Amino acid sequence: MKKQIAVLPGDGIGPEIVQEAIKILDAIAVKFGHEFTYSYADMGAIAIDKTGEPLPAATLEASLESDAVLFGAIGDPKYDNDPTAKVRPEQGLLAIRKALGLFANIRPVKTFDALLHQSPLKEERVQGTDFVMYRELTGGIYFGEKTLSEDQNTASDLCKYTRAEIERISHMAFTAARKRRNSVTLIDKANVLESSRLWRRVVTELHKSEYHDVELRFLFVDNAAMQMILAPNQFDVILTSNLFGDIISDEGSVIGGSIGLLPSASVGARHALFEPIHGSFPQGAGKGIANPIAMILSAGMMLTHFDMDDEAKAITTAVDLALAQGVCTPEVFPEGNYSTSDVGDFIAKNIA
Ligand code: IPM
Ligand code: MN
Repeated sequence: MKKQIAVLPGDGIGPEIVQEAIKILDAIAVKFGHEFTYSYADMGAIAIDKTGEPLPAATLEASLESDAVLFGAIGDPKYDNDPTAKVRPEQGLLAIRKALGLFANIRPVKTFDALLHQSPLKEERVQGTDFVMYRELTGGIYFGEKTLSEDQNTASDLCKYTRAEIERISHMAFTAARKRRNSVTLIDKANVLESSRLWRRVVTELHKSEYHDVELRFLFVDNAAMQMILAPNQFDVILTSNLFGDIISDEGSVIGGSIGLLPSASVGARHALFEPIHGSFPQGAGKGIANPIAMILSAGMMLTHFDMDDEAKAITTAVDLALAQGVCTPEVFPEGNYSTSDVGDFIAKNIA
């Protein structure tokens, strides 16, 4: 199969980890007889530095023309503490999500047996954790009207959702649950927010009409935050809105012992983008210590999206082997002394 992939390495450790993911994709192409071609483009702080814009038109064009987008990381500390900055790297990511219609952000959280002892939680609590988050990605408070008063002392962000926005991601979550352990948990704040009450009503109606064979549970987001550390293995599919999903997915991401292990997919009706959950880790850039596994597994999710299931499996098997044999970057195995590219080499060799 031929696939055209837009590659956006982005900021911080982005370029280093993307390089390893490409190494793996090239190994897959050789082994399974595919042809992957890559068009590189800038997004984020690097794009601002070069063009003044976080998402240059050429990057958007390359992304729209591709079969999928592979994205590294975004963000640079020089923008973080400057509330007056007119452009921010993160705007690039928000803009590309909107422009490609990537309304569903899919974040699987799975523990690796070899790393249970690394978890900040007790091993017996974490054991068996395997859930997937369906976070709405192009609506809600992220994209609602924003205001700042003339005197700059009053500000607001509108959280708005429509039935159609809720339905399309809910269909995905219910469908995913049927292929897993058949349970969906809707996380909201329906005791306070009108928009959350709409979520509950729409999801309940959809459940009744099309998915009554799937278990449907509800949790308020504050309780969910607590449940996630008390008993993370109770969740199968989590369905939630944009901001709650952002927060809960960071909480979920550390359960397995390292945020450097978790991939994600952002999909819409026509386009898809794959990126690790973690950020740009600027302090670690250029040192060869960045964990490439989340990025490599994101490339694996891209292959699943292409219906290349055996190919995706080859990646997860090789990653499992790396972790089982202690081949990972220092934040996971401090005694190992493996660099970013050592980890990529090991995984690529095992695929070959
Ligand atoms: C994420 C990130 C983004 C978000 C930022 C970088 C805009 O935190 O993908 O979770 O808030 O969605
Ligand atoms: Mn986030």
